Order: sequence, then C-alpha cells, then structure tokens
Amino acid sequence: MINPSNLEQTLLEKGKLSLLEQVEHIPNMANIHYIRQKEPLGLGHAILCAKPFVGNEPFAVLLGDDIMMSSPPALKQLMHVYEAHGGQIVGVKKVPHEEVSKCGILSADEPNNRTYQVRDLIEKPVPHEAPSNVAIMGRYILMPSIFSALEKIERGAGNEYQLTDALRMICRSEGLLALELNGERYDIGDKIGYVKAIMEMALQRGDMQSELASYLQELVTKRARTDNRNIAAI
Ligand code: G1P
Repeated sequence: MINPSNLEQTLLEKGKLSLLEQVEHIPNMANIHYIRQKEPLGLGHAILCAKPFVGNEPFAVLLGDDIMMSSPPALKQLMHVYEAHGGQIVGVKKVPHEEVSKCGILSADEPNNRTYQVRDLIEKPVPHEAPSNVAIMGRYILMPSIFSALEKIERGAGNEYQLTDALRMICRSEGLLALELNGERYDIGDKIGYVKAIMEMALQRGDMQSELASYLQELVTKRARTDNRNIAAI
C-alpha cells in the first residue's frame, strides 16, 4: 500500500494528473482534525471525547453510517432551522415501525413546517414501547451545553453512553427541536443499505450511469430467467 504522503508524488510520476487533482482538492476543502475514541463506549462518549476540540461553540454531528441524499444537504436544512430558531436540533425521518428499535425515537406533537418541538426521546425502544416512528437520522446541531449533559448520563441502551439520553436532558432543560429531513436516507451500517447507497450514487454519476444501468438490467434479466427455470423444475 502506498503511504498517503507518497501518493501525490506517485500520481505525479505516473502522469495521473486528473487523479492527482482530485487528491489535492480534498485537504483544500476543510481543515481536518481527528480525535480517537479509545474505547467503544457509545456515541455519547465519542462526542464527549471531542469536547476539548469543540470548545464553547455550537457544532454539528454527522454520523458516517447514515448517508443522506438531498438537496439542500441535510445539514444545510438543519442550519436553516438553527438560523431561524437557534438551540439544539436533530434531523429525523419516519421509519417503518419494525425499524424503531435501531434508532433514537421521538415523542412529539404534529410538526409545524416539518419542525417538531420534541417532548421526549428514547434510544432504541422495543417496537411496542416506541412513542412514534419518527427516528433520529444521524444529523445534529448541538450546543456546548450538551457536554455537561453527556457528563451526567449513565450507560443506557446497549450498555453504552447514548447521545439520545443527553438530548433527553436538554429537551427538559432548554428544549429541543427536530426537523423532518427531506431526502433519501441510507443506513450503510447495514449491508443492504450500503449496497443500495453505492448503486444509487453511481447511478447519479454521469460517468457511470449508463454502463451501470445496463449492467443492472442484465443482472435482473438473468436473475429472472434463473428464477423461472427453478420454478419450472419444481
Ligand atoms: C445512532 C443514534 C440513534 C440514531 C442512529 C441513526 O445509533 O444513537 O439515536 O437513530 O444513530 O442511524 P447507532 O446507529 O449508532 O446505533
């Protein structure tokens, strides 16, 4: 494997200039810092690890295994609500009832302009205890006061420190908004969700669209023929 620091040099030597341009573009988009969570103690603990980096400012959390495809992007949608109302905001979408136990779930009245005033939250409820099917989608705008809540919570669902439990405290002390996000969500922590996201993104790219679409069509036709043959054999 090429050491990342040698990657640019190697691409230059091999004359792969368009790839070089892409690689060089990435560090110019943002300053990237990272903090390692040394033990897998949950999302709440992971965010608390970032406290020294965040300092006393509002900040956004984007969970990498939730891919949102939307225009404007999901975070921008939350920023619009933040600009209008301030405070802490979570991005939500309705999920099928059988999936509520994979998510943080809201209890709230009907939304106004897609915005819910959250009454309560519960992390990964069993379906019959879920107050709704409105689920947190891994996009958050948080304020520094979340850190003191994170310092107070006990271990929750999965024996981990849950961000949802800290947000629950925030909900009671200062209030919490949730925005019903527009767009398609892919849970790539799930194998099928990962495959679907890759396909959909590739199908949106001009350089892959037509080749991939015919390939998928071919696969589906082949699959249908095999299925028919199997049915005939039964
Ligand atoms: C996390 C959050 C959960 C949220 C979910 C969205 O859970 O704790 O509230 O609904 O992301 O994907 P995880 O999927 O990390 O278990």
